[in-house]
Amino acid sequence: MTATPLFTAHNDFRLPAVGLGTYRLNGDAGARAVSAGIDLGYRLVDSAFNYENEGAVGAGVTASGVDQSEIIVATKLPGRHHAADKARVSIEESRFRLGADATDLHLIHWPNPSVDLYVEAWQALIDAQARGTVRQIGVSNFLPEHLERIERETGQRPVVNQIEVHPYFPQSEAIALHAERGILTVAWSPLGRAKELLREPVIVEVAEAHQISPAQAVIAWHVARGTVSIPKASSVEHQRANLEAASVVLDAAEVEAITGLGKPDGRLFGADPATHEEM
Ligand SMILES: NC(=O)c1ccc[n+]([C@@H]2O[C@H](COP(=O)([O-])OP(=O)(O)OC[C@H]3O[C@@H](n4cnc5c(N)ncnc54)[C@H](OP(=O)(O)O)[C@@H]3O)[C@@H](O)[C@H]2O)c1
Repeated sequence: MTATPLFTAHNDFRLPAVGLGTYRLNGDAGARAVSAGIDLGYRLVDSAFNYENEGAVGAGVTASGVDQSEIIVATKLPGRHHAADKARVSIEESRFRLGADATDLHLIHWPNPSVDLYVEAWQALIDAQARGTVRQIGVSNFLPEHLERIERETGQRPVVNQIEVHPYFPQSEAIALHAERGILTVAWSPLGRAKELLREPVIVEVAEAHQISPAQAVIAWHVARGTVSIPKASSVEHQRANLEAASVVLDAAEVEAITGLGKPDGRLFGADPATHEEM
């Protein structure tokens, strides 16, 4: 198996170019899918308190043939736990659910600007990192103004911003801003949830040129743009295909053609972090 490329953040923290998404991978089936993915070669697994699957993800890690220390599991602090006292307990609870000494990569799930407690949540992650219960800290769905504010008010920059990125919503400006600051962009719904996107003629054409599937062409597009993607796949066939796509190299014209599918309103369900809030 070819090694998955790695991308490096401002503090030298590194993530593999392709990780495993786990939204809706729950219970025994979820644990089996996670352990199969790790045995195939995944070393980054996404999860969240709100997916109610940290237990299944932790069980999958334990059931795999790979030492826990070689795997990075990301999890996310939910919106209803942003206040300092709640965040502290929530972070500890995630750690217990994952069955880990410390969470590897803990993110704020959504900024929820109308609640305006995301700086407090960020400080709670900084404090947990200082106590040693969290290894790396980052955010998700943060707009540039949210990134700027947490850094200005706490002096600490996140290693990751996990945001919606797929060819219908390429987020070129956010990716460039993150790259300038050494913040890794992690793309959620990187396959656009595998709907009409995978039938787009531009993507089908690139896939045919490389003798790969449309989903693999989309993952190769993410890799070429320096973005970590976390496609969710329950079957071993999809998991393997997605991991193999990490080593497919697209040329600049192919990347540009796929980026050209972008639309200003290309978000899958209108989840603009300025207004969309999740608790
Ligand atoms: N931070 C956030 O707010 C946020 C929001 C949404 C998602 N996420 C994270 O991002 C992850 C990925 O996003 P997502 O689950 O929304 O969507 P996605 O990864 O874009 O798409 C998942 C769908 O693609 C299918 N698929 C996977 N590999 C395929 C392949 N090679 N060929 C054809 N179909 C394939 C899967 O089917 P099978 O399962 O049948 O293989 C599933 O139906 C989530 O699981 C979650 O971990 C984070």
